[in-house]
Amino acid sequence: MVYGVIVVSTIAKGRIKNLDTLRAGRSNGVVGIMTYKNSMSLHFPQSSDPGGGKYGEKDLLPLQNDRVFYDGQAIAVVMAETFEQAEYAASLVKVDYDEEKPVYDLEKNKENSYKPMSGLGGSPTQVSRGDAASAMPAAQVKQEQTYTTPVFHHNAMEPHATTAFWNGEEVTFYDSTQSVAGSKSLMANMLGVVPDKVKVVSLFIGGGFGSKGFSWPNTVLTAMASKLVNRPVKLVLSRQQMFTNAGRRSQTIQKVGLGADSTGKLSAIQHETTSESSFVDEFVEPAGVATPMLYSCPNVDVVAKLVRLNKITPCPMRAPGEAVGTYALEVALDELAYQLKMDPVQLRLLNYADMDEQKKKQFSSKNLKECYQRGADSIGWTARNATPGSVKDGNFLIGYGMATATYPANRSASTAKATIFADGHAEIECATQDIGTGTYTVMTQVAADALGLPIDKIKVKLGDSSYPKGANSGGSQVTASVGPAIRAACLGAVNMAAKMAAGDSASPLHGYKEEDITAANGGIILKSNTSRGERYATLLGRNNTPKIEALAKTNVSTRDQQAEPAPAPRGSPEAKAEDQSKNNPAVQQDEQVDRKPYAFHSFGAQFVRVSVDAQLGKVKVDKAVAVMDVGKIQNLKTATNQIMGGMIFGIGMALMEETAYDPNNGRVVTRDLAQYLVPVNADMPEFDVQFIDEPDPYISPLGARGIGEIGITGMAAAINNAIFNATGKRVRDLPVTLDKLI
Ligand code: MOS
Repeated sequence: MVYGVIVVSTIAKGRIKNLDTLRAGRSNGVVGIMTYKNSMSLHFPQSSDPGGGKYGEKDLLPLQNDRVFYDGQAIAVVMAETFEQAEYAASLVKVDYDEEKPVYDLEKNKENSYKPMSGLGGSPTQVSRGDAASAMPAAQVKQEQTYTTPVFHHNAMEPHATTAFWNGEEVTFYDSTQSVAGSKSLMANMLGVVPDKVKVVSLFIGGGFGSKGFSWPNTVLTAMASKLVNRPVKLVLSRQQMFTNAGRRSQTIQKVGLGADSTGKLSAIQHETTSESSFVDEFVEPAGVATPMLYSCPNVDVVAKLVRLNKITPCPMRAPGEAVGTYALEVALDELAYQLKMDPVQLRLLNYADMDEQKKKQFSSKNLKECYQRGADSIGWTARNATPGSVKDGNFLIGYGMATATYPANRSASTAKATIFADGHAEIECATQDIGTGTYTVMTQVAADALGLPIDKIKVKLGDSSYPKGANSGGSQVTASVGPAIRAACLGAVNMAAKMAAGDSASPLHGYKEEDITAANGGIILKSNTSRGERYATLLGRNNTPKIEALAKTNVSTRDQQAEPAPAPRGSPEAKAEDQSKNNPAVQQDEQVDRKPYAFHSFGAQFVRVSVDAQLGKVKVDKAVAVMDVGKIQNLKTATNQIMGGMIFGIGMALMEETAYDPNNGRVVTRDLAQYLVPVNADMPEFDVQFIDEPDPYISPLGARGIGEIGITGMAAAINNAIFNATGKRVRDLPVTLDKLI
């Protein structure tokens, strides 16, 4: 294996005039240098699976021409025997540019904004009901403010990293990705290789948060480099390169208008969001996505606008849309509550949405009132004094704030395989992945329950694109999508075992019907007489059967916009799963649930207490309470961890995180964790994470909705609102750093 190091552009726009690789090429250990002049041609991807692709226009395909569209763009890859040799040689590559004037300031280029055709996943970029434009001026009480959020970076602990190698026409990737299936399809497309010849493996991912949901140039570059030098190549982005060569959350400018009557009943909501994308691709931060659904209001207008800049394309970042959108909306509601001299919880209860008024659908399950109540009790909301600055603790001003959290309950089609072996253990295979959320753990529990086996007899295998295709780890959907598929595959295997026993005269279950048999105690038993049954090992051993194998596909989606899935190729695991699922009662029952009348969302309430140093403006979150209504909790430990992680993301977003660009040239200034600040242990509040733990009766037989992203939503607003309660200063520009408070 050789090591690849990327050489990046030092300008934000222009053309490469001259690339001098002579000295670098002679440097110790160098085995090859790849530039646009000797790299293989890539194919423009024709289709991309969800989560797999983000190459909207040909010019983002790396090393295909001399053009530079953003600071830090990959312009060469140096391969050497050791990482250090590659790193040193990369520093010797000399580049001359024909520099052009880049466009990089969102505020200054706001007049160049346009309304894109569609947003994330084909969603509409304008959503309206009633007539907000007329209702707004007629409202008795009005709040109209602009809220801004900077560029944020995901900063996963593990960088983007790939090892790739070719074996003839076959190419294998060991990649850090949130979608082995999507990555496989995209790489096949771009490299012009049939999908069967591409394998993507990602056994453990050290954090993604959305940054590894799309593929960035580093992944395909590794395969291109491997082809060039005919050796396996390992290529890891440096922390600095992660700020320029992979995704980020778009900067936003959000205008929120709220109109209400004197009692606080909302009559108009306007939410105009402006975000930015690159010149080579179109990604729209869906900041207004939750606004039409979150409160009861007859007149709503939400519109998304976009400005093109010379920066790398943004991408989803933990709670794409809701993270920044709920910040603006929920701070605006707090401002309205103050104007009305009303308790912010009361204002939300008064405008509680009993149904999704935009889609005119009932919620599949919603217990938000209980979240508000429990959250208020847990933070000690009665200790809050509405008058800013009135609660003090020595030198510190104490403030309380709250906000609503929300995220869609996504579920999409998934396939899985369950195999029961004659030695009594079982294996599960699914081409989904564990991005650090506990997917292995939760799926082991799901399989153990369905198979009647103890968890130490279950081996869950994920993160390999050759397994049956599962959901990508995006949109908080894996547990809700893959869980039911694994359950169905397991129940399919149980059914096969039951059939075998029923037809086996030596079995204690001989002659019984499959539907009277269930899984328990390491095998199958009679439902009506649980002492009658036998272990899988006994049954399979006696029948000389090495294993029972079942595939299942659950084809359920809770999303509005659905790309028509490509038919599964004949003989593929997905096609076999579709076939077997026709006779799988678990799949049939799950798919027969009528989901059309329902809107699927999770909800929660965030409450925080902050103390602000009266002289220095330094903010500390003392206590943070989240009460989440996310369906049935599969594992309290991993669920709590997810919500807490999201809340920590929210603390960073509210108080410290910001990617700064040089106003003179559009280059990233904060390119490491010394300058881009993320919350550390010393910043942690006392956490109190609670769940309603009510199963969602419509999402799946597991009743579980996703939990990966909702924890951040509401958090930045709750902190912001608490800071106002403490200080009387309303900061509408994130992050709320001390310079904005003193
Ligand atoms: Mo998530 S930001 O949808 O990977």
